[in-house]
Amino acid sequence: MTDRDDTDQIKTAIKSTPTAAGHGAAGHGAATAAAGAAGAGAPSAATTTLKARILMEAKPYIQAYRGKIVVIKYGGAAMTDESLRESFAGDVSLLSLVGIKAVVVHGGGPQITRAMRQAGVEPKWVDGLRVTDAESVRVVQTTLVGEINPDIVRLLGGHGTIAAGINGIDGNLLVARPKDARLGFVGEVDEVNPAIIYGLLDRGIVPVIAPIGHGRDGAAYNINADTAAGAVAQAIAAEKLVYLTDVEGLYRDLGDRSSLLPRLSAAGVRELIDSGSISAGMGPKLRSCLAALQGGVKRAHILDGRQEHALLLEIFTPEGVGTMITQEDER
Ligand SMILES: Nc1ncnc2c1ncn2[C@@H]1O[C@H](COP(=O)(O)OP(=O)(O)OP(=O)(O)O)[C@@H](O)[C@H]1O
Ligand SMILES: [Mg+2]
Repeated sequence: MTDRDDTDQIKTAIKSTPTAAGHGAAGHGAATAAAGAAGAGAPSAATTTLKARILMEAKPYIQAYRGKIVVIKYGGAAMTDESLRESFAGDVSLLSLVGIKAVVVHGGGPQITRAMRQAGVEPKWVDGLRVTDAESVRVVQTTLVGEINPDIVRLLGGHGTIAAGINGIDGNLLVARPKDARLGFVGEVDEVNPAIIYGLLDRGIVPVIAPIGHGRDGAAYNINADTAAGAVAQAIAAEKLVYLTDVEGLYRDLGDRSSLLPRLSAAGVRELIDSGSISAGMGPKLRSCLAALQGGVKRAHILDGRQEHALLLEIFTPEGVGTMITQEDER
């Protein structure tokens, strides 16, 4: 493997390699890069060698993850910023092309908040979870299933990835029960029926899941997207569960940027939660992540979705980015 200097150089090269961003055309960036037409004039021999090394460096990771399932919780800036959206879609497309089975579970916090305000409902949170009355759950469902979900399917489609939008009601995927009387129609996942996911993956289709649950009472439930991603990852024995979010990773102390934790065991996460270092949206993320690891998911990652190609860098390079959470302490 390479040393840190090489890895930094490679990451810089990946960042400066032209991508399909803004073109909406599948494979455009890759084709350009392959032709060695990065910028004006021919690339130097060193650049060409570096590009070959980048490709070779990815080989062991492709070997390890080919045929395996990676569940991606898609949220934050990666979902709203145009160039980050394109970067994400390019990454998912590459994962699919090398035979990694991607499953996307998306949130929609800011869009839901906006839609609720438009409907005259003031959003409220308890322990990082949105209070959802009957009117709110209708807005949540309309926004997630009617707007955000097809938007992501279209985005992926623009990069040559065949994706299909589903929500937890489809195929009885996510059966929900009320989580807490104070939260209204916020669901806890009671049961996962992943047949619909396997059906899509077996045909090379990327499932894009809106986290709406189906209650045994017939009602629709708003399920936190992190919770849904963890439950899905566990049910389909995902190799990796990746949360794309708007922080570099997990901090020991949120106020101290130098306290970023590159690697942590499930026990370490439990300690961190007990110490009171976790607040807001990180709580549901870590709790769902612990449940998934306990349920057999090998690794979970908290990645900075504001960084272009965070997903590719995590999966195909030795350094990894963000915070990796493992079942046990790994050395
Ligand atoms: N110890 C911690 N380390 C890192 N982030 C933390 C920590 N404690 C709390 N947080 C907060 O958790 C937030 C991430 O969760 P948040 O719910 O806001 O984002 P998301 O789940 O990616 O997006 P969305 O909920 O809109 O889909 C961070 O922005 C940060 O403010
Ligand atoms: Mg969140």
